[in-house]
Amino acid sequence: MAILITGGAGYVGSHAVHALAACGYKLAVVDNLSTGFRAAVPEDVHFYEGDIRDRVFLDGVFAAEPVEGVIHFAASSQVGESMVHPLRYYDNNLGGTRVLLESMLAHGVKTIVFSSSAAVYGEPQQVPIRETDPTNPTNCYGETKLAMERMMHWAEAAHGLRYVALRYFNACGARMEGGIGEAHDPETHLIPLILQVANGQRPQIAVFGTDYPTPDGTCVRDYVHVDDLAQAHRLALEYLLHGGKSQCINLGSGSGFSVREMIDAVRRITGHAIPVSEQPRRAGDPAVLVASIEKAAAVLGWQPQCSDLEQVIASAWAWHRTHPNGYRE
Ligand code: UFG
Repeated sequence: MAILITGGAGYVGSHAVHALAACGYKLAVVDNLSTGFRAAVPEDVHFYEGDIRDRVFLDGVFAAEPVEGVIHFAASSQVGESMVHPLRYYDNNLGGTRVLLESMLAHGVKTIVFSSSAAVYGEPQQVPIRETDPTNPTNCYGETKLAMERMMHWAEAAHGLRYVALRYFNACGARMEGGIGEAHDPETHLIPLILQVANGQRPQIAVFGTDYPTPDGTCVRDYVHVDDLAQAHRLALEYLLHGGKSQCINLGSGSGFSVREMIDAVRRITGHAIPVSEQPRRAGDPAVLVASIEKAAAVLGWQPQCSDLEQVIASAWAWHRTHPNGYRE
């Protein structure tokens, strides 16, 4: 039997592919390579280039592979872009998930692990954020992730699908064993941008907002290592394959660090001065986002193993220093 991984050439998806392959799983990866990279997927993994909105294409994959479960990463994932092109997000994220679920059900596949996001919560009423807290997305990206969760909920009620929606906080770092890492174009995430300063690829890092109600005035986030996320997907898959019921589960480190603390950590680890340019707040950024990770421990037996700040930055730095242009030569 095989596990179908959509979006397996993307950042989190490729780390999950490597982790599952290392555990002996047979995998089939589907990716349209719109933001992912073929080089991020091991050569010997079955790879199907195509779009999950294409039912004929997906049906062909299910016909060719004995799929027993799906891990679904394929989605558009930039908050800013989602506000400029909301309908594209509905098309790709909701449209793609709908076709995927239809094709799965047509082939008798009823288990799916799904990459959701802390963006489903919006501005939190309390931190750490628990899974039972209100969901009020403040951007279109988060809205589509929440709607994808709800789509699975109703598909469960009607068709017996079972799902685990993993709500990641700030995914970061690069595979501890090396070889793959984070590569977005354009890059908008804090850690790779700071490391581009250390690499000499940009002159300074912008700090968006210094007047937040936090100890140093900058936003606090929960940074969780991508290898820890990968292991959580494996555990969630095994939980479902053993008959576990549907769940929404936070994945974070459980600790928060401010933008200034992140910059200081990069200074320590790279030895680079990292000049800073203080800027106004970025629209839609909550002051503090930190996960409660008790449910992931209780349901999946998951604990972050490599999400210490030093491990996160050191692994990301090892990747960016050796791959300043990501997967491009
Ligand atoms: N930041 C800067 N300067 C930069 C880039 C970011 O100060 O050049 C700040 C942001 O304002 C924010 C923090 O660094 O306070 C982290 O920003 P990121 O863009 O790296 O990540 P976000 O917290 O905005 O977004 C992450 C994921 C999203 C997800 C969201 C959940 O990338 O996919 O968490 O709220 F939706």
